[in-house]
Amino acid sequence: MSKPVKVALLGCGVVGSQVARLLQEQADDLAARVGAPLELAGVAVRKMSRKRDVDLDPELLTTDAHALVTRPDVDVVVEVIGGIEPARALILAAMAEGKSIVSANKALLAEDGATLHAANRADLYFEAAVAGAIPLIRPLRESLAGDRVHRVLGIVNGTTNYILDKMDSTGASFTDALEEAQSLGYAEADPTADIEGFDAAAKAAILAGIAFHSRVTAADVHREGITGVSASDVASAKAMGYVIKLLAICARSDDGRSIGVRVHPAMIPRSHPLAGVREAYNAVFVEAESAGRLMFYGAGAGGAPTASAVLGDIVAVARNRIAGTRGPSESVYADLSVHPMGETVTRYHVSLDVADKPGVLATVAEMFSRHDVSIQTVRQEGRGDDAQLVLVTHRASDAALSATVEGLRELDIVRAVASVMRVEGDEAP
Ligand SMILES: NC(=O)c1ccc[n+]([C@@H]2O[C@H](COP(=O)([O-])OP(=O)(O)OC[C@H]3O[C@@H](n4cnc5c(N)ncnc54)[C@H](OP(=O)(O)O)[C@@H]3O)[C@@H](O)[C@H]2O)c1
Repeated sequence: MSKPVKVALLGCGVVGSQVARLLQEQADDLAARVGAPLELAGVAVRKMSRKRDVDLDPELLTTDAHALVTRPDVDVVVEVIGGIEPARALILAAMAEGKSIVSANKALLAEDGATLHAANRADLYFEAAVAGAIPLIRPLRESLAGDRVHRVLGIVNGTTNYILDKMDSTGASFTDALEEAQSLGYAEADPTADIEGFDAAAKAAILAGIAFHSRVTAADVHREGITGVSASDVASAKAMGYVIKLLAICARSDDGRSIGVRVHPAMIPRSHPLAGVREAYNAVFVEAESAGRLMFYGAGAGGAPTASAVLGDIVAVARNRIAGTRGPSESVYADLSVHPMGETVTRYHVSLDVADKPGVLATVAEMFSRHDVSIQTVRQEGRGDDAQLVLVTHRASDAALSATVEGLRELDIVRAVASVMRVEGDEAP
């Protein structure tokens, strides 16, 4: 056995309390796996008086996080505070002292990962930052390091998946499904980060950067949330054999020279593996040249599941310290640019309220053809003087589809463009 590896824990909330619990409860196994005991050196919190979901020696608690991370005896700093500051300053202070870092902070990594990677002198591991318990960062960074990833397509936000799943299975409105998610603790009192797609966008940026060996930040990600998804969109998707999911999509362009990174609700066929991801579960589908299609599935959040990923990282960085080595550092050699959303090519589901009279279909079809968007299927339902026209297109650029929709809005016979949604996941393999 080597001498103990000392771990400073920043934050003792949902995730931190479970990390502290597991470090204590599994101490013997962890020591055997690492080759040295993992010793909790201190736990930084904001309020000493708060009740914790873990039995802790009160002597370990401190409100002076900076003093803790710069203590000479600390080897590993685990940041589970969240947010940009003081998390960034604390990590940088720890890095300056040569500590190994484990973080679950997707917001910070997606906003300013470059600064952290540049300052890093030991290890920076962040498996828990994307999709909680699901191993994704290490498979992308290490297991697939010899392959060429074409696309990463995933459900990376449990709250929105829960809401959309409820809407699909019960016909509930968005508002009712959100209220239920809040009452069950799946959504926060302020659900903005989840329902507006910010959380998923941060994860998409991190995944894209690793998968395509390029630097991607949250600002590069095209983001649309789920607040505009209506019960009738869900019903229309269902009628066509589709389900609506909030997807994070990171994909190489057809010529391979740039990447698209986007988060938005999309229809996927019910036969697609991601369609079966119910409730608050997460899943990520990776398509690589040699490996083919891989799917990673599991709990994307929660104290214990997220702590599992954090513990895996602590073990990894502790092993590296003992071996006098470090894990893979940031890989951005490919330096691919992120193309504008208008250049993204996909399929679309367009629902129109139109006048029910002869020639309407031909006029609408002409507008699609004027912008080079070809129609795959059309369904029409009459409703008295009105009709609903539902069209699904072949692959077209987002810019061409936007121009088509603008043109449709100008037409007298189109009373309203009821919804426009992208269709993903049913291209030929
Ligand atoms: N919750 C999840 O399911 C989940 C899943 C994946 C990733 N994550 C990530 O994990 C991180 C932590 O999330 P969480 O849900 O555990 O958050 P949380 O429950 O709000 O806990 C945050 C902890 O940080 C402490 N803290 C806040 N400001 C501090 C400061 N200035 N100095 C020292 N301590 C401070 C808080 O102290 P007090 O307790 O005294 O207020 C609290 O213990 C975030 O980056 C989050 O994105 C969370």
